[in-house]
Amino acid sequence: MCGIVGYVGPREAAGVLLDGLSRLEYRGYDSAGLAVAHRRKVTVRRTAGRVEDLRTLLGDAPPPGRSGVAHTRWATHGEPNEANAHPHTDASGRVAIVHNGIVENADALRGALTARGVVLRSDTDSEALAHLVAEALDGGAATLADAVRTALAGVEGTYGLAVLDARTPDEIVVARNGSPIVLGIGDGEMVVASDLAAVVRHTQKVVFLDDGEIVTVRADGIEGSTRIGPTTVDTGSEDYALGGHPDFLAKEIAEQPDAIRRALAGRLDTRFATARLGGLEMDPRELRGVRRVLFLGCGSAYYAGEIGAGLVEQLARIPAAAEPAGEFRHRNPVVDPDCLYVAVSQSGETADTLAAVQELRRKGGRVIGAVNVIGSAISRECGTGVFLHSGPEVSVASTKAVTTMGVSFAMLAVLLGRVRDLSVADGRRLLDGLAALPRHVEAVLADDAAHGTVAAVAQRWAHASSMFFVGRTRCSPVAREGAQKLKEISYCHAEAYPASELKHGPLALVTPDMPSVVVVPDDELLGKNVGTIEQIRARGGPVIAVTDAELPAGLADAVLRVPRTEPELAPILLGIPLQLLARHTAVALGRDVDRPRNLAKSVTVE
Ligand code: F6R
Repeated sequence: MCGIVGYVGPREAAGVLLDGLSRLEYRGYDSAGLAVAHRRKVTVRRTAGRVEDLRTLLGDAPPPGRSGVAHTRWATHGEPNEANAHPHTDASGRVAIVHNGIVENADALRGALTARGVVLRSDTDSEALAHLVAEALDGGAATLADAVRTALAGVEGTYGLAVLDARTPDEIVVARNGSPIVLGIGDGEMVVASDLAAVVRHTQKVVFLDDGEIVTVRADGIEGSTRIGPTTVDTGSEDYALGGHPDFLAKEIAEQPDAIRRALAGRLDTRFATARLGGLEMDPRELRGVRRVLFLGCGSAYYAGEIGAGLVEQLARIPAAAEPAGEFRHRNPVVDPDCLYVAVSQSGETADTLAAVQELRRKGGRVIGAVNVIGSAISRECGTGVFLHSGPEVSVASTKAVTTMGVSFAMLAVLLGRVRDLSVADGRRLLDGLAALPRHVEAVLADDAAHGTVAAVAQRWAHASSMFFVGRTRCSPVAREGAQKLKEISYCHAEAYPASELKHGPLALVTPDMPSVVVVPDDELLGKNVGTIEQIRARGGPVIAVTDAELPAGLADAVLRVPRTEPELAPILLGIPLQLLARHTAVALGRDVDRPRNLAKSVTVE
């Protein structure tokens, strides 16, 4: 949420900054701006709108200078206009800052600044930081880093911060508290950013800043301690490029077979018919001691947690549930020492999930992470867990990470099951089922690519003003995730219900104009799901069945088929056509599928 880039080196900074901003745009796209230092002067250019608008604003004459900071914003405090866009400067224009996160005591800081005669020009919480740094410099701070330290001493909240001072244009100072900052070490140049996406085009040698660190970055190195030493990341710039796909959502949906293969690699222990999840750091006795599992996440990660809970309950026969992390953290939860808490997050930055983890740790709960981004705040706070290995996600709507969450939870459930009563035969059956999943996903994607199966369904109902998504027991979260994906990127209203709930109210809304997507796994409840479809159709409602079963001919108005898989794993596979349905619908309606309105990737604020 919001993107930061900074550059110091021999090149003209504006070009590097603009390029970095376009790579970070998925984190926020309300407004954008940059500040470049040249001849003891800082030039700022900002605009409401997207990075492309900033590029247009700069035209052929970007401000000269070899160091600078830049930002793409997702508004929290103040509307997305030019005045609220970053960088913010102090009154003299000497100091420019870009900030991610929330200054919680912004009102008090702004009040105190105003009382000291400072004129504030924006509605943001961030602007105060520029004035505070300038005050510290005027007050005699020896270095820019010292001034930033003094300024931040009075700040409550979270920040990833980059600061530029006209008088020391050969350096930028970065600071981190709860909002990521990564330093890219190039050949005689440094690129700093809130996210690898803006860095890996220039270098793969990086340092992840730790919370509480304040560091001075110059072209030839870093000054100030970095607790986490340099590492070489294996993500390349191609991971952030479209590579021939029309949009990142299409790319990430297509990447799922490989993402699953990576998530499974080295983790299927066929000899003992179990999963090998060394990152959990739990021996069999500890695994047996787990009496309950609670998955915590937000949005799609929460729905994936619901799929995980179903898997754990079925395979390990211990109670399991999922809860939105943002609810859990605020309800003063009773923390059960025998419960295994699983924090689920693609980005590893989501503020509510991170806060839930911190609450759990404060109360002595055992919490592991199921996280995609290595080195992220949640993965570090948890210390142990399962990395998803789905590769970077750029599209705002999560797809491949959600799928690898399901895969990881299936392995966790097998592991917990095999130290209990899950038989060797069932363990093997599930491992085989998991190993076959990439092929099955390939088949679903290939069928849609060759025959336009899902695209045709999307075309047919794209203009429905509302849709139901219906699923039963293990597939109820699949329906919830399907509805979420559709509304998120197509803006078509969608509501998910457990199949058993339909007749208790929602059925009143079923008409020929209200299509229902019904998720029908080939499991012990197939007959009941067929009954649900009949009930909807009896009221004139069109039905799109998503299934791995052979359904009676003519039962549904349209059928989206996936290959048959193990019933326990069906929720993972049945989610794929729903991703395609959402994307095709959004495309048919001309939406910006990668950057849906009002949203941004990585929700690092409350
Ligand atoms: C939906 C979506 C969001 C995220 C949620 C949690 O497509 O992407 O609902 O799933 O914001 O994000 P992470 O997984 O990064 O914690």
